[in-house]
Amino acid sequence: MSAPPAPSPTAPAGIEVRGLRKTYGRGPAAVDALRDGQMRVEPGEVVGLVGPSGSGKSTLLKCLGAVLTPSGGYIALGGIPVFEGDHWLTSDLTRLRREQIGFIFQSPYLLPFLNVRDNVALLPMLLGRPNRQARAAADQLLADLDVAHRAEAMPAMLSGGEQQRVAIARALINRPPILLADEPTAPLDTPRAMAVMDLLERLAGQIGTSVIVVTHDEKIMPRFRRIYEVRDGVVHDNRA
Ligand SMILES: Nc1ncnc2c1ncn2[C@@H]1O[C@H](COP(=O)(O)OP(=O)(O)OP(=O)(O)O)[C@@H](O)[C@H]1O
Ligand SMILES: [Mg+2]
Repeated sequence: MSAPPAPSPTAPAGIEVRGLRKTYGRGPAAVDALRDGQMRVEPGEVVGLVGPSGSGKSTLLKCLGAVLTPSGGYIALGGIPVFEGDHWLTSDLTRLRREQIGFIFQSPYLLPFLNVRDNVALLPMLLGRPNRQARAAADQLLADLDVAHRAEAMPAMLSGGEQQRVAIARALINRPPILLADEPTAPLDTPRAMAVMDLLERLAGQIGTSVIVVTHDEKIMPRFRRIYEVRDGVVHDNRA
C-alpha cells in the first residue's frame, strides 16, 4: 500500500470539487445525473468512488476529466480552478486533458488502427517525446501490466481484460498529476486487479498523483482508506 499522504492545511488539493451538477438533455427528457458533487482528493491519495448503477459515477468522472462540460459548480485541479459557474476557465481543454489528466474509461476505446504499443506510446509522441523513448516507456508499462507479449498485436485481437490493461497503460504513460479510473479492474482476475492497484498506488506515492477509482469490485475495496459514495447524483464522503 502507498504511504499515507501528508496533507498540509496550506497545500492545495489535487482535486477539489464543489456543488458540481450535470443535467443531460433538456425539457421533459432532462436527466439530472449529478446533483451535488463534493470531493477533495489530496496529492498522492487514492480514493474509491462507489454507488449503484446509474447513480452518476461515470458522469462525475467525465466532468472531472473535462470529457463532459458540467451544468454548474466548481472544479480545481492542483489548486488551480478549471471550471466555475457554467464554464471552463481555460480555452485549451485538449491541453488540459493531455497534460494533467489520465483517464481510464469504463470501455477501453483503443485506436483500432494502431498496435498495442503505439496505442500506449501515442500521447507522449504527440507531446513531442522521441518515438523510441515513448515506445520503450510503453513496453515497460505493458510489462508491468503483464501484457507485453501482445505489444505488436492490434487491439481487436485482444481479450477484454487485455484491452483494459492496455488502456490502463495508456492512461499512466504520461505520469499525470490527476488519474481518473472508471471500473479499471472489472474485467480482471484478482492477481491482475491487485497489480493494477499496485501501479496506481506507485504513481500516487512516487509523483503525488491524485487518483479516483470508480469500482464495484469487492476485492480491491480494502485498498482504499477513503471511499466516496454517489447516491442518486449526490456525492457522500464515507470517511467515517
Ligand atoms: N449521454 C447521456 N444522455 C442522457 N442520460 C445519460 C447519459 N449518460 C448517462 N445518463 C444517465 O445519467 C445517469 C447517471 O449515469 P452514469 O453513467 O453516470 O452512472 P454510473 O453511476 O456510472 O452507472 P454504472 O455503475 O452503471 O456505470 C443515469 O440515469 C444514466 O441513464
Ligand atoms: Mg459508469
